[in-house]
Amino acid sequence: DRAHAETRPAFDFDEIEAGVDETHHVANGYDSDILLRWGDKVFADSPDFDPLKQSAAAQEKLFGYNNDYVGFIPLEGNPDHGLLVVNHEYTNAELMFPNFAHIGKKVEDGKEEDAVIMGDHTQELVDIEMAAHGGTIIEVRKVGGKWQPVLDGKFNRRLTAKTEMTVSGPAAGHDRLKTNEDPTGTKVFGTINNCAGGVTAWGTWLMAEENINNYFSGELKQDHPEYAAYERYGIPGGEFKWAAFYDRFDIAKEPNEANRFGWVVEVDPFNPSSKPVKRTALGRFKHEGCESVVNKDGRVVVYCGDDERFDYVYKFVTAGKFNPDDRAANMTLLDNGTLHVAKFSEDGTVEWMPLIHGQGPLTAENGFASQADVVVHTRLAADLLGATKMDRPEDVQPNPGTGKVYCMLTNNSKRKDEQVDKANPRAKNKFGHIIEITETDGDFASTKSTWEVLLKCGDPDVAEVGASFSTATTKNGWFGMPDNCAIDADGRLWVATDGNNEKATGRTDGIWAVETEGEMRGTSKLFFRVPVGAEMCGPCFNPTSDTFFVAVQHPGDAGLPTFETPATRWPDFKDGMPPRPSVVAITKAGGGKIA
Ligand code: FEO
Ligand code: CA
Ligand code: CA
Ligand code: CA
Repeated sequence: DRAHAETRPAFDFDEIEAGVDETHHVANGYDSDILLRWGDKVFADSPDFDPLKQSAAAQEKLFGYNNDYVGFIPLEGNPDHGLLVVNHEYTNAELMFPNFAHIGKKVEDGKEEDAVIMGDHTQELVDIEMAAHGGTIIEVRKVGGKWQPVLDGKFNRRLTAKTEMTVSGPAAGHDRLKTNEDPTGTKVFGTINNCAGGVTAWGTWLMAEENINNYFSGELKQDHPEYAAYERYGIPGGEFKWAAFYDRFDIAKEPNEANRFGWVVEVDPFNPSSKPVKRTALGRFKHEGCESVVNKDGRVVVYCGDDERFDYVYKFVTAGKFNPDDRAANMTLLDNGTLHVAKFSEDGTVEWMPLIHGQGPLTAENGFASQADVVVHTRLAADLLGATKMDRPEDVQPNPGTGKVYCMLTNNSKRKDEQVDKANPRAKNKFGHIIEITETDGDFASTKSTWEVLLKCGDPDVAEVGASFSTATTKNGWFGMPDNCAIDADGRLWVATDGNNEKATGRTDGIWAVETEGEMRGTSKLFFRVPVGAEMCGPCFNPTSDTFFVAVQHPGDAGLPTFETPATRWPDFKDGMPPRPSVVAITKAGGGKIA
C-alpha cells in the first residue's frame, strides 16, 4: 500500500568502489559466500567434477553452466530452508573445455587481429553442452548462519536440453509444432537459453527461453511457410554446433523444431518426475523473464520482455483466479488468458493491447488463422498492432505493494535520431534506461495505465551521455545496461547489470540499489560487483530479505579467453581449475536484513 511505500527505509549500506578486478566485492558488513558452482554436486551420488575429464553423464548430475535466473521457494514457509531453482542459460565452450579453443589470428579489412579459433566440436562436447544447459532444482538450508546445499534433498533435479517436456495452450498439437520425431506437436525434448524467469504464487518455476535462434543451423527454402517468421526471429543464429549431431537443430531437415522453443516453461519443483510444460498462451519470442503477481481480483498477471533491439514489452492476464487452497487448479492458470503488448504514448499513458485472433488485424488474411498462429508468431502479431519498439526489454518486475512495474531496457546502439520517442528517449542508447509503469488503481490487469522514465543510465559526468541519476548519486553509484532486478521485502528496487566492463565503463557489472520514492528517487548505490568478464544475474531475496542470492555468469569472459587463459580463475583461484559461474549467497554479518 501507498503508506508502506512512503515509509520504506532508504538504503543504508556503505557503497563499495566501482572498478574491475579478479574477484567479487560486497558492501562492508556483509558476507558473500559461494553456494553453488558449475560442476558442484546436485545429488548425493553425483561424481566429483573433473574439468579435464568431463562427460555428459557426469554433467547431468552436476550444477550446470552460466547460472542466470535464481528463485527461492520456501519449504513449509521457512525463509531459511527451501528449494533454489536456477536457470543455466548457455555455455562458453572456450572457457569450459581444455585444449579446445585457442587464440589465433584472423584477417579483417586487411588488418590482422587476434581471434579465438574454435576446435571442431565432437558429439561428446555437444552432449556436455546440452547437459550443462537447462536448470537445477536443489534444496538449500541455512545452518549456523551459512547456506548449504542439501544433496539428498528429495526434490533435487537437473533439467537439460534433452529433458522431455510437454506443450500446452493454444499452440499445443498445432501443425507448426509437428516434427518427424513428434507428429503430435506436444512432446519436446529440452529447454534452452533460459535467461531470467519467475516463481509463481503456487510454487512453480517459470523458465524463459530467450536466444533460441543461436542453436539452429541450416537453411529454409524461401517458399517455406516459416520463412518470413524465421527471418523476424533471427533463425538460424548458427552459433552452436548442435545441428552437426542432432538433425532437429538443422532447419533444412526439421523446419518446425525452432517453433518448439522460445516459450515460457513451467516446472513443478515439488514433483521430480513431472514433465515441464511449455505454456504457449504466453507467446513465443526471446523471453527474458516472467515475473508474476496475484492481482487484487485474484487473476495472475505475468510480465515479459522480448530482448531484442526494437522489440516489445508484454503482459499476460489469466482468465482464472489464483486459489490459495487448490494448487492443482492453479497448475493450468497459465493456459487460459490474454496476452497483451505495450504501446507507450507520448502523453505518458501505456496501452496494453490484446493479442487475440480475429480482433483488429489478427485475421486469416494477415496470416493468423487461429490463436495458435498468434502465439507462435507473437512478434509478427505485435508488429501489426503497432506496439512500441523498445531498447531491448529485459526483466519486467511488478512491485506488488505499490502497483508499479519496472522495465529494464538494457541498451540499443542502433536507434537512430529519427527513431527516438518518449519511451526510448536517446539515439544510440549505449547504457539503457528504466521505465516505471504505474498500473491504474493498483490494478495489474489494467489495459490503460501511465508511465515515466525512472532513470536514463550511464555516467552522469559525461554530458553527451544524458544520464539522469540524482545528484546524490556518487561516482560509484551510476550504472549502465540494466538487465535483471528484484524487489525486496520492503518494496525497494535492486538492479543487476550486464555489459559494464573495462572497455565500456571502466567497471564491472554488479548490483545497484535504486531509490524510487520521495526526494531520493533516482539515487543509486553500488552494493556488489562481479569479477572481470562476468555479468550479474539472478538477484533473488529470500522472503525475509536477510539473504540475497546473486548469480555470477561467465566469469573470466574478457578479452580473448580460453580454458587455459581465462581473465580470472574465480572463485577457486586454483591452477588448472577454470573460472566457474556460481551462485553467491549474501547475508549480513551477524544476521539481519539486507539494507
Ligand atoms: Fe540473457 Fe536478455 O539476457
Ligand atoms: Ca542477462
Ligand atoms: Ca526479476
Ligand atoms: Ca542482457
